[in-house]
Amino acid sequence: MSKQPHVLVIPYPAQGHVAPLLKLATKIAEHGIKVTFVNTEFIEAKVMASIPEKAEGWSLIKFVSISDGIERDDDRKDFDKTRNTMLRVMPGNLKDLIEKINQSSDCEQITCVIADISVRWALEVAQNLGVSRAAFIPYGPENLALSFHVTKMIEDGILDSNGNPMNDGLISISEGTLPWKRNEICWSCRGNEKMQKILFESICAVVQFVNISNWVLSNSFYELDPSSCDLVPNILPIGPLLASNNSRHLAGSLRPEDSTCLSWLDKQSIGSVIYVSLGSTATLNQQQFEELALGLESSSQPFLWVVRSDLVDGSLTGFPDGFKERITGRGKIVEWAAQEKVLAHPSVACFVSHCGWNSTLEGLSMGVPFLCWPYFVDQYQNRNYICEAWKIGLNLCPDGNGIVTRHEIQTKVTKLLSDEGIKRNALKLKETAINSLVEGGSSFENFERFIVEMKSS
Ligand code: UDX
Repeated sequence: MSKQPHVLVIPYPAQGHVAPLLKLATKIAEHGIKVTFVNTEFIEAKVMASIPEKAEGWSLIKFVSISDGIERDDDRKDFDKTRNTMLRVMPGNLKDLIEKINQSSDCEQITCVIADISVRWALEVAQNLGVSRAAFIPYGPENLALSFHVTKMIEDGILDSNGNPMNDGLISISEGTLPWKRNEICWSCRGNEKMQKILFESICAVVQFVNISNWVLSNSFYELDPSSCDLVPNILPIGPLLASNNSRHLAGSLRPEDSTCLSWLDKQSIGSVIYVSLGSTATLNQQQFEELALGLESSSQPFLWVVRSDLVDGSLTGFPDGFKERITGRGKIVEWAAQEKVLAHPSVACFVSHCGWNSTLEGLSMGVPFLCWPYFVDQYQNRNYICEAWKIGLNLCPDGNGIVTRHEIQTKVTKLLSDEGIKRNALKLKETAINSLVEGGSSFENFERFIVEMKSS
């Protein structure tokens, strides 16, 4: 007789990774399957502090934390150092945790590990312990497909061994997928060669870790990008993973959500509000921050703007003179919003977004047109899909000095809000996304298949 399934889920310790995996974990737990969710201690404190007391999903999942090895006084923003520490400490801690759970009782044994591909070492830990494993891809299928082509592109002289394009042409992996511009590949990090090297190595390593996995779970749906999905062997698109409209699902915020934005939205006209959020890590310089403020002010639309305490490089020295007084009643500023609920609100007209993959999926699943402001990694190509492939948004273009001006913001808001074609495309894509999740839909069927196979593995 096969063992009772017990799934261990482990995300990379960052907002855009914890959130989708927590939604997936809840979905699995709803099938009556035991789920243990492993955060770092640092992240677990944040998740716990932001889960609403009444969220039912809380009781469905067992939360466990392990140390990431980073000392209290260490600078967590030192990406290279924290990454090396985590790589040194966390695989051993995860192994110890699984062994401890497995020794505690026969019916508690971990039968499957679902690991974010960004903590790919967890797949190796599972393999060494003889546990089945699923790689979870938190970014779009186009970047996963790209991983499968990197070796050939180096052999063909399209990329050098560090991932730098060898000429100025577009980088294409198939006829059906959008080509990449040379400075918009997910590892290209202008001015930061070290980071670029780390990202390129990660992308190159993906194939090896996908190959040791029993399943490849993608937070996407097949119809969104069939050409990229067709390039990845055994991919199971099971998204979009959403928390909205289901009180049991946890959004997985690492910051407390300001719920006053929802009552504020209730008071605005249908289809009038510009929602602005640049995700969890993107930053602006003070000049760009002020230009955005003035652009929103001059747009003549109501707006809801997420201004994280760390949105401005260095630190926020303030809003433009008199800005807050002038926007009273028309502009609402919060530190963190309940984003999915905001996007689902009928008052929202458009989404000024950095095009992180979660924000992209959330916006398109709610049928909200985009104004795109990508910041780094996969966000440029996500923007290209939004504007060129799905035609559900417009790009905000920086001027010659790299600044998205108030004039550009005002002009594009007006253009987007009067573009009926984009609105129609957005509503159509929303319908396709939702259909993929209901019985008979592609993501529904893929998820069911995963559950059945995982239970019997
Ligand atoms: C990072 C990368 O930038 C992204 O491109 C990659 O695909 C995943 O990791 P991040 O900046 O965190 O993402 O953006 P995104 O992927 O969009 O995730 C942000 C999450 O925070 C979304 O789920 C969004 O709903 C949530 N959010 C954001 C809130 O809940 N409230 C807010 O106010 C802002």
